[in-house]
Amino acid sequence: MSFLVIQGLSKSYGGVHALVDFDLSVERGEFISLLGPSGCGKTTTLQALAGFVSATRGRVVLDGKDITDVPPEKRGLGIVFQSYALFPHMTVADNVAFGLEMKGVPRAERDQRVARMLELVHLGEYAQRYPRELSGGQRQRVAVARALVIEPPVLLLDEPLSNLDAKLREAMQFELRRIQRKLGTTTLMVTHDQAEALSISDRVVVMHGGRIQQVDAPHRLYEQPRSRFISGFVGKTNLLQGRWKDGSVELAGGARIAAPGDYADGQELTLVLRPEKILLTPEGGSGVRGRITERFFLGSQWLYRVECPLGELEVACANDGRAPWPEQAEVALDWAPDAASVLPPESA
Ligand SMILES: Nc1ncnc2c1ncn2[C@@H]1O[C@H](COP(=O)(O)OP(=O)(O)OP(=O)(O)O)[C@@H](O)[C@H]1O
Ligand SMILES: [Mg+2]
Repeated sequence: MSFLVIQGLSKSYGGVHALVDFDLSVERGEFISLLGPSGCGKTTTLQALAGFVSATRGRVVLDGKDITDVPPEKRGLGIVFQSYALFPHMTVADNVAFGLEMKGVPRAERDQRVARMLELVHLGEYAQRYPRELSGGQRQRVAVARALVIEPPVLLLDEPLSNLDAKLREAMQFELRRIQRKLGTTTLMVTHDQAEALSISDRVVVMHGGRIQQVDAPHRLYEQPRSRFISGFVGKTNLLQGRWKDGSVELAGGARIAAPGDYADGQELTLVLRPEKILLTPEGGSGVRGRITERFFLGSQWLYRVECPLGELEVACANDGRAPWPEQAEVALDWAPDAASVLPPESA
């Protein structure tokens, strides 16, 4: 049995189904992200796991024990709330020590664990400061330290990095992952940032309208999204329409593209082709020709809009030092044989 088993967890507020039949089994030490747009039920899931929201239906089993009806303080989980509330009248060290004090951990051990945890989040020198004397990023790290110090069996993080600038956020993502690995803490993190979810998770749970849409390892989620929504939510995407014919997919204008699977001839299919999988060449092998209508500089990449018989496609090319294509350039589009994936016909 998995370390954390969530079965059919549901929560309704009157007529609003905030969470519907959430099923997930989490292994010990796993880092799971809950990803989805605003209002899709991420916080509700976390709050139900923490016990602050009582589920309308469903069960939560932690390490073989059913904790569905156990009050929050008895679950012993580490939590960083979406609005990470530090105690303003307590120093950083006292904030972090709070949970240990509540558990009756003796003073000497408490001091030692707090000091170690503050070192881990690089805040050793800030122990005697008050929250108001810290930057937003430092405060968020205090909140993470406060949750981790009690060595909870499960750590629940609700957008723990939301208030950081892009650079600090990225640094903290890796730091969080490093700490989590080191301590082996089973972690569920809520985010609506797809790059964050993909870069630091073992698995990502994509949610929409209170329901789980897909649970997969980041790479698989990106390469084989199971619906239009997921495809668009986890990255930039081109959706191509075609028909299965003689072992590959025939696209508009007669171009062909390889795709995994086997379908009946004539079956209509929707394919996902990520912008970075399309190559622009003067003479392409796919037989698709197009014209660049717009060009955007993204730093590490150039993003092009290309008009072609397949529609208007987005194409991303590494900024590898070569001169970019000019707007209005006539180009040919090419791709590797395994560049595209197929959406399941029933979801497309
Ligand atoms: N106490 C409540 N009473 C009524 N409806 C609620 C309550 N709490 C949440 N909801 C509704 O439940 C749905 C899910 O809310 P939730 O807070 O879980 O979303 P979220 O995915 O965390 O969104 P965000 O990314 O904006 O934080 C929303 O439609 C929300 O309006
Ligand atoms: Mg939320």
